[in-house]
Amino acid sequence: MKTIIEPFRSKSVEPLHHTTREQRERLLADAGYNLFKIPARDILIDLLTDSGTSAMSTEQWAAMMRGDESYAGSESFYRMEKVARDLTGFRHIIPAHQGRAAERILFQVICRPGDVIPSNTHFDTTRANIEFTGARAVDLPIPEAADTQARLDFKGNLDTAALERLIETEGPAQIPLIMLTVTNNSGGGQPVSMANIEAVKRIASRHGIPLYLDACRFAENAFFIGQRESGYAGWTPKQIAQKMFSLADGCTFSAKKDAFANIGGLLCSNDDRVAMQETNLLILTEGFPTYGGLAGRDLEAIAVGLEEILDPDYLRYRIVSTNYLGRHIADNGVPIVEPPGGHAIYIDAERMLPHIPRSQFPAQALAVELYRHAGIRSVEIGSLMFGKDAPHELLRLAIPRRVYTQSHIDYVVEAILEVNARKGDIRGLEIVEEPPFLRHFSARLREV
Ligand code: F0G
Repeated sequence: MKTIIEPFRSKSVEPLHHTTREQRERLLADAGYNLFKIPARDILIDLLTDSGTSAMSTEQWAAMMRGDESYAGSESFYRMEKVARDLTGFRHIIPAHQGRAAERILFQVICRPGDVIPSNTHFDTTRANIEFTGARAVDLPIPEAADTQARLDFKGNLDTAALERLIETEGPAQIPLIMLTVTNNSGGGQPVSMANIEAVKRIASRHGIPLYLDACRFAENAFFIGQRESGYAGWTPKQIAQKMFSLADGCTFSAKKDAFANIGGLLCSNDDRVAMQETNLLILTEGFPTYGGLAGRDLEAIAVGLEEILDPDYLRYRIVSTNYLGRHIADNGVPIVEPPGGHAIYIDAERMLPHIPRSQFPAQALAVELYRHAGIRSVEIGSLMFGKDAPHELLRLAIPRRVYTQSHIDYVVEAILEVNARKGDIRGLEIVEEPPFLRHFSARLREV
């Protein structure tokens, strides 16, 4: 069969709430044209993020009933630890309430002011947690990644020549670790090849620097390797993922992505001394090491989710359905970051709306229009989020896991193409109220 269907059926459903265009106009004005401030109830299709928004399976819900809520030594922790260790091979598996909690603890332990942490591209919480310690976060994507239209198999790769130069100028003593974000979220959800992970590992080992994965979307990355990289065609996603982790000395992980959990994270390492310091910090702010800020039932959901995510049928459907959205809009004239990534499609709003200058937030203007037109929420990844440092003006359509069907996605395609057909009418925005930081969450804007 050529048709790839959702590899699940629904047992429990959640109604969607329609609004009228007039209601959405009012909601937008009340929210200061900031979609973070619109109540979720008034969103029809929510593509703000794929994080924590997955539909859990019957097996996850069943496992949650077995959650052991003991303060110390919870059975649920040991079950989750066994699954995570089998997958990653790491000696220390430390739970945390989400990915950024793991990042905070890691960087607080290993960074000193003046240190440098290179990555293919840091996610914004990772960068913020590094910089909060006085260290510097440096992005070293391959140069081809700057061209949104370039169609590369592994556009998420790190520029190894640039890494060598950075180590040369900074000195390895200033670089407590090297990070690879798989897939590369801020770079368009693009995968990193096994060859690139191996090359980075070789450089890291030569200088005695540990390599960490930001493993949020490790399963999607593994599937892309199986599809695109020579030598991996006969491998299961799990075997590929195990090899990816075996090349690393540790990882941070948000279970809100590739573990189908609504909350949770992990901090893993093979270094006993580092793990002990991390555990001490964990107890201060997250909790005892067998729960780390989570309920026992959350640990159960992660344990089951980490296995389900590696189902080849699920991953094929996941990558094909993201590609379906991407191709249907791109082949009809909407410029996206090519090729489609794993968890999201990114529209290049600067290319789509050349009449709106950067100073008037073209990607936010597009987000506003898509909501006004069809009740769809997306997220701006451009000048509103990153200020003058924004490399592109992107609008991200992130796809929650196992939540929407093909007809929902067809609706999104139709809405985007209708907006594209009269894109010349879309107006830019200006800020009327600006908080001192994290302005994309709470700034108020108006149309100009
Ligand atoms: N690393 C990457 C690559 C991420 O995409 C995220 C979260 C994190 C770390 C932090 O994890 O949210 O559990 O604290 N990304 C979400 C997103 C928020 O919408 O892309 P967290």
